[in-house]
Amino acid sequence: MLASSLRRSDAVLFDTHCHLDTDKFDTDRDAVFERAYAAGVMRFLNPAYDLESSRRAAALSVARTDLVSAVGVHPNSAAEWGAEVRAALRQIALDALGRVVAIGEIGLDYHWNVAEPAKQKVVFIEQLALAAELDLPVIIHCREAYDDTLDILEVEWRDRPLVLHSFAGDLQQMQRALDCGFHIGISGPVTYPNAAGTRAVARAVPADRLVIETDSPYLSPQKYRGKRNEPAFVRLVALKIAEVREEMLSDLALYTTRNAMELFRLG
Ligand code: NI
Repeated sequence: MLASSLRRSDAVLFDTHCHLDTDKFDTDRDAVFERAYAAGVMRFLNPAYDLESSRRAAALSVARTDLVSAVGVHPNSAAEWGAEVRAALRQIALDALGRVVAIGEIGLDYHWNVAEPAKQKVVFIEQLALAAELDLPVIIHCREAYDDTLDILEVEWRDRPLVLHSFAGDLQQMQRALDCGFHIGISGPVTYPNAAGTRAVARAVPADRLVIETDSPYLSPQKYRGKRNEPAFVRLVALKIAEVREEMLSDLALYTTRNAMELFRLG
């Protein structure tokens, strides 16, 4: 059976990375959720990128039963990091225990290099320590910095729960991550004509390590490229991955949702 011929009712999908707290969704957030449900997307994880978005993400996850959140400082916001921000993130996580389920997105970004790599590394490692203290999984942002990111994680976070979100590394880097027990998150770029490398990764990830995501409002799938992304479109990500893995969408939905539930300890 072709993946695309499956009924919508077959697939319950989990968008493990969507920034629904941001003002891009302020005018139609309820409609965005309704369209997601109509596409079979029933669960959401809203990561953060600085202190303010951490507050918003946590608040949204407290207000909704179908959405959990993460708190953290993105490498592009590394300048704001310090003892006060660390204490504030810790308090947000403790105040919303069970709704804030991870630290992220944190990591290294050598594409924009908004902060010096040395500063980024300090902020990254200190947040890994915070995640360890709170016993929370980690969501990694990594851009053009896979080797440095993996060098750090192999020392600091081996065999602990973690996802490399919107993975854009090669097969060798994927294998290093798998060897540490990490999960691989695949998003909209898997649908882009020039993304053969991402499709090769999507084909190779073991079924028990794969999660799917949109990174809304960014990284819209090919069909909506240039427009705002939203969680309903994680279905297009799932369809493309099912196609390249020669699997049924319903099977892919089942195990990717289960993987996310286990990774983020959602029972
Ligand atoms: Ni993101």
